[in-house]
Amino acid sequence: MTMAQTKEAMTTGALTQLCRLEDVDEDMPFRAEIDGFAYAVFKVGDMFYVTADLCSHGPGSLSEGFVEDCQVECPFHQGKFDLRTGMPTEPPCEIPIKTWTPIVRDGAIFIDVASPNPV
Ligand code: FES
Repeated sequence: MTMAQTKEAMTTGALTQLCRLEDVDEDMPFRAEIDGFAYAVFKVGDMFYVTADLCSHGPGSLSEGFVEDCQVECPFHQGKFDLRTGMPTEPPCEIPIKTWTPIVRDGAIFIDVASPNPV
């Protein structure tokens, strides 16, 4: 399969598939890279959350962070963000991260890449 075929298969209308449901676990967020931008997919209980993977404070990858109480702790300086809103909840993080509303369809998680949630 060529790269173009792969990309076409992952995009349905305005929605882009980030991963399969089984790719993300409560203890193991998933990192998806689409067109050079990295997204982090989290599972908390029955809910899924999608944020930018890159911490707004520095080079931390939030998909490698620790999740508790619907917050992710950045592995780099231990700042935290609320997964529901992207708002920083613990210093040194001060700038919100982008979030997207995940859409679950056919066993996979999609987002509208062009429509992040308002901050
Ligand atoms: S890079 Fe994430 S808290 Fe500093």
